[in-house]
Amino acid sequence: MAANFHSPISQAMRPEDSAETVAKYRDSQERGKEEYAPMVTAFYDLITDFYEYGWGPSFHFAPTKDGTSFEESIAGHQRFLGEAIGLRPGMKVLDIGCGVGGPQRSLAGTFGASIMGLNINEYQVKKCSRYNREAGLDHLCSVLHGDFMDIPAEDQSFDAAYHIEALPHAPDKAAVYAEVFRVLRPGAIFAGYDWCMTPQYDGGDPRHRELKQRIEYGNALPEIASFTDIADGLRAAGFEFVEALDRATASDPRTPWYRPLEGCGLTPRSLPRTTVGRKITSGALRVLEAVRAVPKGSFEVQQILNVAADSLVAAGRLGIFTPMYFHKAHKPG
Ligand SMILES: C[S@@+](CC[C@H](N)C(=O)[O-])C[C@H]1O[C@@H](n2cnc3c(N)ncnc32)[C@H](O)[C@@H]1O
Repeated sequence: MAANFHSPISQAMRPEDSAETVAKYRDSQERGKEEYAPMVTAFYDLITDFYEYGWGPSFHFAPTKDGTSFEESIAGHQRFLGEAIGLRPGMKVLDIGCGVGGPQRSLAGTFGASIMGLNINEYQVKKCSRYNREAGLDHLCSVLHGDFMDIPAEDQSFDAAYHIEALPHAPDKAAVYAEVFRVLRPGAIFAGYDWCMTPQYDGGDPRHRELKQRIEYGNALPEIASFTDIADGLRAAGFEFVEALDRATASDPRTPWYRPLEGCGLTPRSLPRTTVGRKITSGALRVLEAVRAVPKGSFEVQQILNVAADSLVAAGRLGIFTPMYFHKAHKPG
């Protein structure tokens, strides 16, 4: 098997446990704030292989421009963050919610900083660690299993920290920022890209509210924040708020950030991201599940992902949501 081959079918659990994991996900969703940990763990057990198959090793969006490939856009968005933090060789940096480590390897390779990933999902931790080794980057990249609400690290042990679309999973922004603050040395920078409802979101509009709930349901999120929640949370944790901007505005209007979910091109890799591809994949999964060629629950996982994709596109088109609210803060000292 080629080293970079990814099956879209989850290998995180035994096939016979798949339906139970789907049920666990659905149950914990109802108490998202209290049960954020089982919810997010079940979610990433179910979808990590699918994400890798359809999206690649970096599980985030990026501003897109005509003539720029998907991979270039992703790399450019990571570089923007690395430059904003001022990453350089010798720095010890925390990547909060590191996924399978696409951004970590790219940033360590580009800037030469030592980056430790933190991840609550054990399956992703194992994959990340293996990919770091295979990429010959394990002298710069390491990964730790743990919850960002209770970071398993000493006070003041990092020179900088970032997250890429991981803190939307936090049940309490001020509490997670306080944990990040604790593990940073005085003078350190913390930056990231968060998922936010924009000022165009109107909580009194039922359509807006429904889209917000569907994004939360399809992506294992306790509650999507507003721009103000981010700034207030950072200040409450003791950070000096340096700057923030919605990087979605850096997209070419003809190629908005949600374009990869809308469907353009039908290569095997882009297929599951597109509207047509999602229909084909759903149909195929239903049949394959019936003949037991894929684990029970695969079709339902696909439905959850479809809810996620459709609601993200609809909210993106209305301008009420962004997955790339860049924020930068400074620990005084
Ligand atoms: C959307 S993915 C982004 C991953 C990575 N930053 C990237 O861009 O490829 C969110 C990540 O946050 C991790 N995560 C969610 N909740 C977490 C928690 N409480 N503690 C640590 N990691 C968490 C998930 O396991 C997942 O890897």
